[in-house]
Amino acid sequence: MTLSDPPDTPRRLRHLISLEHLSAAQILHLLDRAERMREQWLADRHALGLLQGRAVVNLFFENSTRTRTSFDLAAKRLGADVINFDIANSSTSKGESLVDTLHTLEAMHCDAFVVRHKENGTAEFLARHVRGSASVVNAGDGNNAHPTQGLLDAFTIRRHRPDFAALRVLICGDILHSRVARSDIHALRTLGVGHLRVCAPANLLPAQDALPGCEIVEDFDAALDGVDVIVMLRLQKERMQQAQVPSEQAYYARYGLDARRLRIARPDCLVMHPGPINREVEIASAVADGAQSCILEQVSNGVFVRMAVLAELLGA
Ligand code: CP
Repeated sequence: MTLSDPPDTPRRLRHLISLEHLSAAQILHLLDRAERMREQWLADRHALGLLQGRAVVNLFFENSTRTRTSFDLAAKRLGADVINFDIANSSTSKGESLVDTLHTLEAMHCDAFVVRHKENGTAEFLARHVRGSASVVNAGDGNNAHPTQGLLDAFTIRRHRPDFAALRVLICGDILHSRVARSDIHALRTLGVGHLRVCAPANLLPAQDALPGCEIVEDFDAALDGVDVIVMLRLQKERMQQAQVPSEQAYYARYGLDARRLRIARPDCLVMHPGPINREVEIASAVADGAQSCILEQVSNGVFVRMAVLAELLGA
């Protein structure tokens, strides 16, 4: 916060590693900023000059379609230079450590590092090793956190249902391996969602203390009763040591969201999914592509939310 800020402006973030310790004011400030950027971009489709002369590095050690592309677009729409660091062809393959890679890129005056890695805690680790004033954004670490997904999900819900306190939200699927579930829960609890429910087979649920404030319902039909928002999650096989469901068909029969099941929820229930979707594994095509689906809207909103995050962290 500076002397010229209004008194209710929350403290500016330097890094975005998790939503766990953000206040409602900090989250709402980012959502409001994303809303203004959305309006401005859709009105004239001109890059804002807020990050002119700044450089943003995408450091993705795990695959990504949505997050990487939207950070790339977000930085460009703010006028920044963007480096999509090519891990496979970089000197990390010659044994250069993560920290030495970070310091090398910092020496080139890079201002922000957007980091995705399979190991929990990687973004936080890099944030602790930054030497200068650069910012680190966690673009997903293991099953720990995906804060910009949590923000864009909250942003998407608020565009349709602004009264968080009145909402019943269900998150269904492979909660155990899902960093999205954790970040959604942190965001939605902090924003005061009235009722948060999770649904998964028992072996795909973390311990209850990892699901603060959530009702756990194992039967999917029962869990759907009366909900306003459903967030479906895929089976994250890349994080499983061995198969944890008997078969995809058996999983779909118990936990797949199809048209019959969707009718158990409220008639105007929003259907969300962070992607990538696996059709007829956790969600039917008719539902993913149906009138209640917000899945592609989540993707669009992700760019505006990431613009807001980059502008905020870089003090623009
Ligand atoms: N939702 C999400 O993180 O998608 P990607 O893995 O494609 O980035």
